[in-house]
Amino acid sequence: MAELPETRGYGRMSRRLHWIVAAAVVPMILAGLVMTTEGLPRALGNALFLFHKNLGVILVPVILLRLVWRLTHPAPPLPDPMPRWQRIAARLSHGALYALLVILPVSGFVRVRAGGFPIELLDALGAGPWLAKSETLANAAQALHHRAGILLILVVAIHVAAAAHHALIRRDGVWQRMWPPGGPGRAV
Ligand code: HEM
Ligand code: HEM
Repeated sequence: MAELPETRGYGRMSRRLHWIVAAAVVPMILAGLVMTTEGLPRALGNALFLFHKNLGVILVPVILLRLVWRLTHPAPPLPDPMPRWQRIAARLSHGALYALLVILPVSGFVRVRAGGFPIELLDALGAGPWLAKSETLANAAQALHHRAGILLILVVAIHVAAAAHHALIRRDGVWQRMWPPGGPGRAV
């Protein structure tokens, strides 16, 4: 699909980082929801916890790179005309998504380490626990992780609905700012 002439898209690196993070966050959410349901077979629960904790830790450097990239590469201007409330909604929801991408791995890490549980990848690399065991801290981090997870699901649902609305109904070029993941690669 051709990009509308007046719309400048995100650069190649921004797009790649967006889609790598999105492709990992969706299974992270699904695994998080399934592994916390009661009555799950033990082996499946263990496998999902293993997947969730370790992919979550692997995502940390990717998220950090994404944040640094974003801070040094501002978003391209939105297409005109676009209602003011939509610009504000986009800015707020994107800010919330970035904030949740920091809060979730940190609270997950604290919940696991303060609870005295393993994070297999870090343990294999010989990293220490970095946190003393504390039930109070583990419980607080668990509550935060849970609330942040629910909020992320809500914001991602709105985000995807907005993206679909731009792509399929408005056809205003907003979708092409982020898709395809590898191009067209204008310098932004
Ligand atoms: C899986 C389906 C997804 C679709 C279809 C999608 C689509 C898009 C599109 C079209 C944009 C460009 C919006 C614009 O031009 O202003 C965008 C931006 C963005 N998306 Fe997604 N997205 C998805 C998942 C996610 C997920 C899971 C996250 C984070 C948890 C996320 C975080 C962001 C952020 C933070 C921006 C703003 C980029 C910036 O200005 O730095 N997206 N997304
Ligand atoms: C982007 C990263 C992450 C996302 C989107 C995410 C999302 C979620 C979600 C949606 C849940 C279910 C919430 C609930 O019902 O309580 C969950 C649970 C959980 N997550 Fe994460 N998580 C992330 C990172 C991590 C990391 C890095 C760790 C640990 C190293 C972790 C450990 C856990 C644990 C232990 C639970 C179960 C909580 C409980 O004890 O009930 N998460 N996560």
